[in-house]
Amino acid sequence: MTLAPTVRLAHASLLEILALLDERLAAGATSISLEVLDPEFGRGRCAGEWVEYDGQRYLHRPFRVWVDLAERRGLRLLTPRVRAAPLIELTFEPLDRSLELGALLRADDAPSRSERYGADSPFARVSKLEDPGFVLDLADALERALLPSGARVLDLGINTGDEFVLLRALAPVLADATLVGVDHSASALAVCRARFPEPRVELHHADVATLGSLGLGRFDLVLSIGTLQSPGIDGSALLRQIVRDHLTPRGAVIFGFPNCRYVDGEVEQGARMRNFRQPELGLLVKDVAFFRRYLQQHGRQVFVTGKHYLLVTGVVGAPD
Ligand SMILES: C[S@@+](CC[C@H](N)C(=O)[O-])C[C@H]1O[C@@H](n2cnc3c(N)ncnc32)[C@H](O)[C@@H]1O
Repeated sequence: MTLAPTVRLAHASLLEILALLDERLAAGATSISLEVLDPEFGRGRCAGEWVEYDGQRYLHRPFRVWVDLAERRGLRLLTPRVRAAPLIELTFEPLDRSLELGALLRADDAPSRSERYGADSPFARVSKLEDPGFVLDLADALERALLPSGARVLDLGINTGDEFVLLRALAPVLADATLVGVDHSASALAVCRARFPEPRVELHHADVATLGSLGLGRFDLVLSIGTLQSPGIDGSALLRQIVRDHLTPRGAVIFGFPNCRYVDGEVEQGARMRNFRQPELGLLVKDVAFFRRYLQQHGRQVFVTGKHYLLVTGVVGAPD
């Protein structure tokens, strides 16, 4: 571990801080500590405004700025330590890029392609139940969907069932719903079955390419999170099939497109091209625009929300 002295940065601009971090990282630092103004002394001020304390001036930054800076530079921000007022010490450590989830999944020797996201895969450590943005955005999307009681819900790529947990917790109207999940991972479905043993939860071990042959019928809500862009899935063909064959006339959809990556226990916002240091949203925007347009053309009002996952929600508005 490289031990370097804490740098006091009462007046440094963000550009100067970035330059300092980059210089230290290029020199191989494994930990960088900065002494900065405690954001609590600047409550209500914007980033870059001045705070006076005991006759001295300090540059204020809301805590969110430090969190964003760490995220965008691939660093972990440790719990701040209080120093002599009005300062705190912030310590940043580089994340271990070899622990990027996508890379781990590619390197994982899963027994088959369908087990890449299986119950024992590195993906199993990521829980959307612990992502506040995802939970709150899904809650809003479900509210917009105006689901009837006794609804039928289909989830494509249900994995171990986190979305069923959320549906039940966030939409009380779904208490007596029939929940149908499809996934090609047998191990993930086994976990899902153990969590939802009741007969009103139907699980199908199948490739979504065979959706048409499963005889599932029509649904009040079709949901698919983080699945439609998977290798081997033609997302636009699947969308057409869902709208044509699997929605009731007032049926709603919620599709989630990943807009983040998981690295060394942290989540970094923004879809990436492989080897891009900063987010590149071209493919995501193209897919979201296609889904939005198609759903609008098929009678749905469409909302695009979300942060780590962009949610495309298509609903038929409330009757007049
Ligand atoms: C990235 S995971 C998302 C899982 C879950 N919806 C979530 O967001 O946590 C993609 C899921 O889709 C499943 N999947 C991918 N391609 C599939 C296919 N062609 N047919 C059926 N399931 C598929 C995977 O097994 C995995 O469970």
